[in-house]
Amino acid sequence: MNHIKISNSREGYISPALHSQFIEHLGSCIHDGIWVGEDSPIRNIHGLRADVVEALSRLAPPVLRWPGGCFADTYHWRQGIGPRDLRPIRYNGNFGTNQPDNNQFGTHEFMELCRLIGAKPWLNINLLSGTVQEMVEWMEYCNRETGYALSDERATNGDPEPFGVEYWGIGNESWAGGGNMTPALYVQEYRRYASSVPHFGGFGPGAKPIHLVGVGPDGNKPEERVAWTRGVMEEMAKFRRPQMDAYDLHFYNWNISHPEDKVDDFNEAGWYRVIDGALELEEVLCEQYDLIQEALAQISVAPGPFGRKPKLDLIVGEWGNWHGGFMGMGSGKPALWQQCSMRDAVTSAISLDLFHRNCDKVSMACAAQAVNVLNSVLLTDGEHTILTPHFYVYEMYKPHRGAEKLGIEVESSVAGYGDRGEVRSVYAFASEKDGVVTLNLVNASMTEAQTAVLDFDDALSYLSGQVLEADMPTACNDVENPERVVPKPAAAPRGEGKTWTAALPAASITVLQFQK
Ligand code: AHR
Repeated sequence: MNHIKISNSREGYISPALHSQFIEHLGSCIHDGIWVGEDSPIRNIHGLRADVVEALSRLAPPVLRWPGGCFADTYHWRQGIGPRDLRPIRYNGNFGTNQPDNNQFGTHEFMELCRLIGAKPWLNINLLSGTVQEMVEWMEYCNRETGYALSDERATNGDPEPFGVEYWGIGNESWAGGGNMTPALYVQEYRRYASSVPHFGGFGPGAKPIHLVGVGPDGNKPEERVAWTRGVMEEMAKFRRPQMDAYDLHFYNWNISHPEDKVDDFNEAGWYRVIDGALELEEVLCEQYDLIQEALAQISVAPGPFGRKPKLDLIVGEWGNWHGGFMGMGSGKPALWQQCSMRDAVTSAISLDLFHRNCDKVSMACAAQAVNVLNSVLLTDGEHTILTPHFYVYEMYKPHRGAEKLGIEVESSVAGYGDRGEVRSVYAFASEKDGVVTLNLVNASMTEAQTAVLDFDDALSYLSGQVLEADMPTACNDVENPERVVPKPAAAPRGEGKTWTAALPAASITVLQFQK
């Protein structure tokens, strides 16, 4: 028996941006996944794959990050604008992609995708092989009103209205493929780029928001991630300007040391190892948040009109399960193409809930990646587009966007062990919006159904519920069986008023809603 106490205390606002996505020119994410071209027999909207656009619109990710990832560090945006038949073909070797990229999907195509799915764009600039000038010109091209050479060029290319891009990533993983930099070198570079960022809309109340995203640490390396953050913060503290608005931590739940473990064929040890691995992200988030707060506390407010209390948002620009050999090569599939089983759905639910739970510490998180790469919400195969179990977790979790986190205490038995420690049977999270309480109940036991007693502070009435479960924990959706794992109505919890009892199938995710 598991016991869950949900209180009335409101413990923080859940930023919708915690449900954001990331896309990159890697494997078949962009080409075939998102972009098929206007002449394709596959139904498309100006070359964007229509079924992918429709599915992503259902999720409406609040922010979409592009063009990388590592790809951003060799991307030259000018190659991706203007008449498509004049755009150069480049070689894309990113993570074993090893294929031509014809630049047909560039800035305008990305902006159209964002408009169609309701996402704000996040552009990552090229800090490694690009220049400060190239970044400034991309910003002017995107955000300036017409009447200037670059913004008029944008209008000539089809978009007279500025794109109004708020999020700009200044580099990607500069501690590795993004330059193998030391924190001091990165901050030196960051200063040159950030100091050159143009203003849009002047300095007054009409100023358009720009959020500069600095390179955060490799969340997978315990010592290096602390050293990176300490180093970056120390360097940044030497001068108070230029500002950094957000700090981008990356964390992958690696499952690459067990060749016998396949995405859709694993044993109980593999089930708990991967879930345990996903739980580590909560420790990383808390550690990084504390390091940032400690560093900010040392910085005094600058005198003069521009002085402001230093603030830096922690965000997670890339997260998800990474199965298979390094780079996932040798599978006969495009680079980093990965199926998604019920195990991945459970880790996605647990990961989204740890973001929700720490909504006072983290304000944005982008899943890596939306289509055909790693922990995807969509997989394409020829003319088919498959909604993965991960897709349905996002869809079921939508009511938490913009809601208030509620206090919760969970008592639950141990279901199994991973490399780091125990995995409990039941994980839970609750939020409230407009008088509706939404409760997530993840049964992380691979084999045992669970019962959970729910105790609320107030008497509530049950509204509805959904459950995501499968005939097998290894189950995935594919072309032959695209709806093997889809949400179904949940069994209504028994009880009334303040106390209810919910039945949770093994290896499942249940979302219940109650009216206050
Ligand atoms: O998401 C795949 C790759 O993982 C990204 O390009 C890079 O930023 C990270 O190492």
